[in-house]
Amino acid sequence: MNDTTQAAQAIWARLEALPKPRLTELFAADPGRTGKLAARLELSDGGMLFDWSKTHLDDAHLAAFVELAAAAGFAERRAALFAGDIVNPTEKRAADHTAQRGVGGTDAVHEAEAFHARMHGLVGAIHQGLFGEVRHLIHIGIGGSALGPALAVDALARDGAMVDVHVVSNIDGCALEAAFAACDPATTMVAVASKTFTTIETMTNAQSALSWLGQNGVADPYGKVVALTAAPDKAVEWGVDETRILPFAESVGGRYSLWSSIGFPVALALGWPDFAEMLDGAAAVDRHFLDSEGADNLPLRAAFADQYYTRLRGCQTRACFAYDERLALLPSYLQQLEMESNGKSVTAEGAPVSGPTAPITWGGVGTDAQHAVFQLLHQGTNLVPVDFIAAIAPGDELDPAHHRILLSNCFAQGAALMAGKQSADPARAYPGDRPSATILLDDLTPASFGALIAFHEHRTFANAVLMGINPFDQFGVELGKEIAKQIETGGAKFDASTEALLKAAGLG
Ligand code: F6P
Repeated sequence: MNDTTQAAQAIWARLEALPKPRLTELFAADPGRTGKLAARLELSDGGMLFDWSKTHLDDAHLAAFVELAAAAGFAERRAALFAGDIVNPTEKRAADHTAQRGVGGTDAVHEAEAFHARMHGLVGAIHQGLFGEVRHLIHIGIGGSALGPALAVDALARDGAMVDVHVVSNIDGCALEAAFAACDPATTMVAVASKTFTTIETMTNAQSALSWLGQNGVADPYGKVVALTAAPDKAVEWGVDETRILPFAESVGGRYSLWSSIGFPVALALGWPDFAEMLDGAAAVDRHFLDSEGADNLPLRAAFADQYYTRLRGCQTRACFAYDERLALLPSYLQQLEMESNGKSVTAEGAPVSGPTAPITWGGVGTDAQHAVFQLLHQGTNLVPVDFIAAIAPGDELDPAHHRILLSNCFAQGAALMAGKQSADPARAYPGDRPSATILLDDLTPASFGALIAFHEHRTFANAVLMGINPFDQFGVELGKEIAKQIETGGAKFDASTEALLKAAGLG
């Protein structure tokens, strides 16, 4: 065991030995608790409040977690991330997503600016009609090449998009058919989004989209394609004209790529100024994460709570409920960000990890989820730390009662989870002492949206540092892909159950 691991284990032992008062006792013992654990982050057009006071973190925990961060080399790993050093040792790569927002190593920032200028030019040309009338974009990608664009467009373009965007990811043809049904081929462009430009789902869907265009009167289907990729040579080979390839750096990870040319549909739907504001909002969080120390660092503080619940309270899941219909896709986005990044069993050095890693991220939208899964949150035997996300300004123009009831319910749930309620009837008793955190945006804008996503990126990174793992590779997804390829190719033998399934489906 090396010195760092020994130091970390000693701190964990101290953390484990700390008393575990109830949340209500923590509030009673410290009248300044909300002021200490809820903080605002100011953005260009408003701000957002991060309230972690309804978690079990107290001064003693915070002090110990700050020591743990120091023992894990948090400051050094953060500096390495922003300097563009290799922070993904298994793939010998930097992780340059912050450089896309203008915060990072000089070379990476300049490269990102050049790629953005190219993308800005193409977006402008499409908006100006240089590609004829473009009313629809079918954006084809999967995982990190789809989840961010789908979330951002759904969150920010509801009031009227400049181009109607359909994100298609699933190889199941039903997904692509739904997009075809909603688009007029004569006024449709296709974005093929793939970092590697080899992903079978994306390339198959892209080919089918080209066929659909060709079969529906488009003379030059390839002329309608834009490629968003870190492998421009592969896009050229596939047939995309070099002028319509928007590259991004290999060092931008798929699930961190919304800020690169993978964000093309966002810029096309919202216009460049809003896309740039989204980048600026994320950059504000980058600067906060880089410049704030200890528990004042909001993503790091959130990671302290995450570690507390996973390791000290045995929580195997964490839930996120957006009390905002526009953020309905946020849990899916966070699932990839957190589970693909931190769902690992070995440290960055390849040794077995000493404790649990990422919990399962799940969630939904409020108030719908209250009428479906909140029963378990209030009375189930699993302890689930919950994040609530809401905006003070309504996204709708209906009777203000809608938004008032939405927010009241959001705050009521956090209060109820914490306070609980006694009853002589066990079926009607609520144990309470169930933690939650609340992120309250003044308004959901491109800037606050960018900040919200960047906050989660850095929270994920901070968790990885505290656990000693590399959040930037994802080898766990490869084996299934290999076996699917073997099935496609034929000839390989599998276990009896798989063989029987293949036979039943006519594939064996
Ligand atoms: O299979 C996982 C994964 O590699 C993700 O990490 C990535 O976001 C997704 O596939 C899509 O990859 P690509 O952008 O190369 O098509």
